[in-house]
Amino acid sequence: MISSASSSNYLDTDTLNRDREVDLYIHRSQFPALEIKNRTYFNYGGQGVICADALDSITKNFHHIESLGCFSSAAGAWMMSEYDQTKAVIAEQLQVSPITITLTENTTIGCNIALWAVNWQQGDRLLLSDCEHPGIIACAVQIQKRFGVEIDYFPLSSTHNASVEGKDSESVVELLVKHLQPTTRMVMLSHICWNTGQVVPLKAIAKACHAQNVFVAIDAAQSAGVIPLALVDSEVDFYAFTAHKWWCAPLGLGALYIRSEIFDQIEPVFVGWRGLTNGLPIPQWRQDGAKFEVASSTYPLYEALRIAIAHANNWGTQPARYQRICNLSQVLWHKLNELPHIHCVRQVPPESGLVSFQINRELAKSAIAQKSHALISKHFEAEDQIFIRALADPNCLRASVHYLTSLADIDQLVARLASLAS
Ligand SMILES: Cc1ncc(COP(=O)(O)O)c(C=O)c1O
Repeated sequence: MISSASSSNYLDTDTLNRDREVDLYIHRSQFPALEIKNRTYFNYGGQGVICADALDSITKNFHHIESLGCFSSAAGAWMMSEYDQTKAVIAEQLQVSPITITLTENTTIGCNIALWAVNWQQGDRLLLSDCEHPGIIACAVQIQKRFGVEIDYFPLSSTHNASVEGKDSESVVELLVKHLQPTTRMVMLSHICWNTGQVVPLKAIAKACHAQNVFVAIDAAQSAGVIPLALVDSEVDFYAFTAHKWWCAPLGLGALYIRSEIFDQIEPVFVGWRGLTNGLPIPQWRQDGAKFEVASSTYPLYEALRIAIAHANNWGTQPARYQRICNLSQVLWHKLNELPHIHCVRQVPPESGLVSFQINRELAKSAIAQKSHALISKHFEAEDQIFIRALADPNCLRASVHYLTSLADIDQLVARLASLAS
């Protein structure tokens, strides 16, 4: 529990502006998954919900290709136009040029492209934080095996109470820099930690790493669609993300930003016709993000991503949506702190949509509270229609708060958690 003094800046419901809550209900009615009665959805960090217009566009576009004639010139031109428009929309969200964007299927592919793009030599070192996603660690371990690279981990988890705006964010950078060695070639870490919701100071990290000629690759699975981004200004080299989480687009669409200045220092591993201009038998490469793309993709999905982004922008700008996410997460965090049997993993107000907490089994007397967090999350889904995720490290439950989350959703989750006391 936090002390009452530290909850004096408690953001109550007025801060969230009641008019916008009414707006929100009208807006939410466009998302079929949010219209299901008595369902409370807190898994945006796993997968977002898709609006009806985006869902409809998927079927419409598959039909459209059939009607134009599969593999016709007209269908080809239509698909290329979808591709260009989609890159342009993604680039606009990140405030970068479309030539810096590689379209992918998910975050992990983008992280793989970044990790394998380096000309690794035996004895080089790769630095990760101790909060990275298993898929990214697996990729690092393969690189270790293939090239004889050493992996170092820095204990980002030990700073999980550092806030990104505060002075303690310097301690995150200092800790990272302490773990750089003369042969470190790349640092890979998440912009928002998937397990705690901690936000790391990107620009300060990029500056510190570049001062030592170290590439900075960012796993943005939990930040794209949450934090307002101006990637050129952040100075990071790679920024990999998916659109199916916070952007509420279909599964299977993601992207990777690559800083133009490093383009000549990296190479793709998987290649194909999408990266070529022409000139076989000697391949001529496109000098943009497409060099890292491979071949045919599910172009009929692309419009759904653009519709998803347009819907979010219709509700409010990215800064306004981020502000709402932070406000709501803070409301949830404060309410959780008022429950004696709940322990929030972070002791500072959230700066992202991820709020992780543990149930103290000694203080929570109900039978279900005696089970593991994984079983509690399954029970909540099956019995209460509350969707919330369990994590292994730290062993906890994680609620993902989106701008689409309502205050009523938060009340429902908190009431259910409160009921675990007896
Ligand atoms: C930090 C982080 N990285 C990577 C992933 C994997 O994402 P994807 O399925 O888009 O590759 C996740 C998914 O939860 C994540 O939270």
